[in-house]
Amino acid sequence: MPGRPIPAGESDYTVRPATDADQPFLRQMLLLAAFPPGTVRPPLERVDQDERLARYLVGWGRVGDAGVVAEVAGRPIGAAWYRSFSLSTPGHGFVSEAVPELSIAVTPAWRRRGVGRALLRALIETARDGAAPALSLSVSRRNAAAMRLYGSVGFRRVGGDEEHPTMLLELS
Ligand SMILES: CC(C)(COP(=O)(O)OP(=O)(O)OC[C@H]1O[C@@H](n2cnc3c(N)ncnc32)[C@H](O)[C@@H]1OP(=O)(O)O)[C@@H](O)C(=O)NCCC(=O)NCCS
Repeated sequence: MPGRPIPAGESDYTVRPATDADQPFLRQMLLLAAFPPGTVRPPLERVDQDERLARYLVGWGRVGDAGVVAEVAGRPIGAAWYRSFSLSTPGHGFVSEAVPELSIAVTPAWRRRGVGRALLRALIETARDGAAPALSLSVSRRNAAAMRLYGSVGFRRVGGDEEHPTMLLELS
């Protein structure tokens, strides 16, 4: 998988490529991403029970999957990853089979310290290295942190509805 560890400057976290062994952590992060602040978060088992959620991770590590993990002293604190979906089983932010869809979350104690931005930048670099033409995502407009972060790196709305826009970042 492309990518390399990125020193995090003044902060004490680092960002490294995700591996198959990170799937349990990605599962936790998927729940945070699917149920952001202000929503009622179900138990972790919900990720496996809900096929529309599980499809973001099931068989993690297949061709086309890539991700990055932020960690402190070997302990993960956040992750961003992408995978491509088919037209028959699309993600919430599906644009095309050629465009992978991004997921991201940072553990609550580490938010607002630049970790999300560092993860997003690293994942964009990974996508460029992997020759992805673009990245897409779906976000709730009420998710102020995510809306601000995505807009600041160039994501723009290409679909979805007013409440849940689908956003795209072109990489070419
Ligand atoms: C979205 C998320 C990943 C951002 O991670 P983070 O580490 O807190 O973000 P950063 O510290 O790198 O900040 C990135 C930008 O978002 C802004 N931001 C962060 N939290 C914010 C908040 N609660 N309200 C408004 N803006 C916020 C920051 O100010 C920063 O923008 P700036 O550089 O222009 O000031 C994090 O809030 C999170 O994990 N949320 C829950 C999961 C989620 O919603 N995932 C996305 C689903 S689509």
